[in-house]
Amino acid sequence: MSRRSQWGSRAGFIMAAVGSAVGLGNIWRFPYVAYENGGGAFFIPYLFALLTAGIPILIMEFTIGHKYRGSAPLSFFRMSGKKSEWIGWWGVFVSFVISTYYSVIIAWAMKYTIYSFNLSWGTDTAGFLFGDVLNLADTPGDVGGYVPGVLIPLLLVWAIVFIILLAGVQRGIELANRIFIPMLIIVFLMVVIRAVTLDGALLGLDAFFKPDLTKLANPTVWVAAYGHIFFSLSIAFAIMITYSSYLPKKSDITNNAFITGFANSGFELLAGIGIFAALGFMATQAGTAVSEVADAGVGLAFVVFPEIINQMPGMNSLFGTLFFLSLVLAGISSLISICETYIAGISDKFNVSRSKSVIVGVGIAAVVSTLFATRGGLFFLDAADYFINQFGVAAIGLIEVILIAWAFRKLGVFENHANAISDIRLGAWWKVCLSVITPIVLGYMMFGLLRTNLL
Ligand code: PHE
Ligand code: NA
Repeated sequence: MSRRSQWGSRAGFIMAAVGSAVGLGNIWRFPYVAYENGGGAFFIPYLFALLTAGIPILIMEFTIGHKYRGSAPLSFFRMSGKKSEWIGWWGVFVSFVISTYYSVIIAWAMKYTIYSFNLSWGTDTAGFLFGDVLNLADTPGDVGGYVPGVLIPLLLVWAIVFIILLAGVQRGIELANRIFIPMLIIVFLMVVIRAVTLDGALLGLDAFFKPDLTKLANPTVWVAAYGHIFFSLSIAFAIMITYSSYLPKKSDITNNAFITGFANSGFELLAGIGIFAALGFMATQAGTAVSEVADAGVGLAFVVFPEIINQMPGMNSLFGTLFFLSLVLAGISSLISICETYIAGISDKFNVSRSKSVIVGVGIAAVVSTLFATRGGLFFLDAADYFINQFGVAAIGLIEVILIAWAFRKLGVFENHANAISDIRLGAWWKVCLSVITPIVLGYMMFGLLRTNLL
């Protein structure tokens, strides 16, 4: 077998890990999740989840990839034999499914980046999204063929991903992130600065940050915080194991994990500020409360934002272009990490070259993703997203920590491995988080999910 690829530098790895973490989840998911779960008060469960599960698991996954130098299935195989390889494959499968619909959302954002130039969505932005862009069927059964308007940008997204992945770890993934991430930061800062200087911005920030402390007594708020941290940090997807398998022998693991975690949260906070400042502007224009204009999910980025852009005084098409361009940049840098998971999995398992596994992996994913570019696509997308987020991630996370902490009893080994090469030393707190706190919270989450879904 040929020598395993490596990152060219520490900064390259951090850019790639941050590129994976910072994605669509930060820009449109975090702001409304925080808002719906207590606003300012959400920061308490959020920080708790970040410090007890997010960063500890990130450290664990970085250690696994660095120690076993393999894609997720190979790493689990090397950790404790054939019987645990499936954990890695499960993560690979979940990543595959995510990549098929994540790419479609990026394709919409790409389309909207271009539309922003001449505001071609008109005044009925909801009608535009659901009619012209998605060309939605009324029932899931009525798939009714492809929507060319989505199919073409979708193929463009896959072409970009294909080229980057084909170029390899250093000359593809690392180089792309070194360009995309600084660009994303500049573009998004411009968006946020413009947003906070709009009329009524403070009203939006007030709605976003006003803490509703009574929500903290509600367990669903804590579950939402944990769920969001897993998705947002790309943990329990086999991704961070794959990326860290390309780390050079001498690498600081713990420090890198803290940098990745805090960079991701910082970006999230920034997005919350930008989005709610813009919502405050919109509420002021309409003379209503911010709660009247806040929307969740797809509607926020693709219906509410176009409306805000329509109403903005001056340079609004530039603002729109930059906003949707940031979605595209954040999305593609995450999408390549998701695809790398199965590409590495395939080439490690079948001992085939990188180009072969890129062609097969990306090829199949691209074909499957076109299912979401049909008239019934949004129904499938919702279903896939629900299933993956609810069962896939929490379940893998739970199984991963329980097996590693209690069945394989590897935490001590991992602690020594990470401590030998890192600045920040791991201690008892790390093991308590992984062996006690995280399993209890995730177990509670799974229990609640099974109850609401099966009864
Ligand atoms: N972390 C990314 C985000 O916040 C999403 C993602 C999930 C990326 C899973 C890779 C894997 O959008
Ligand atoms: Na994220």
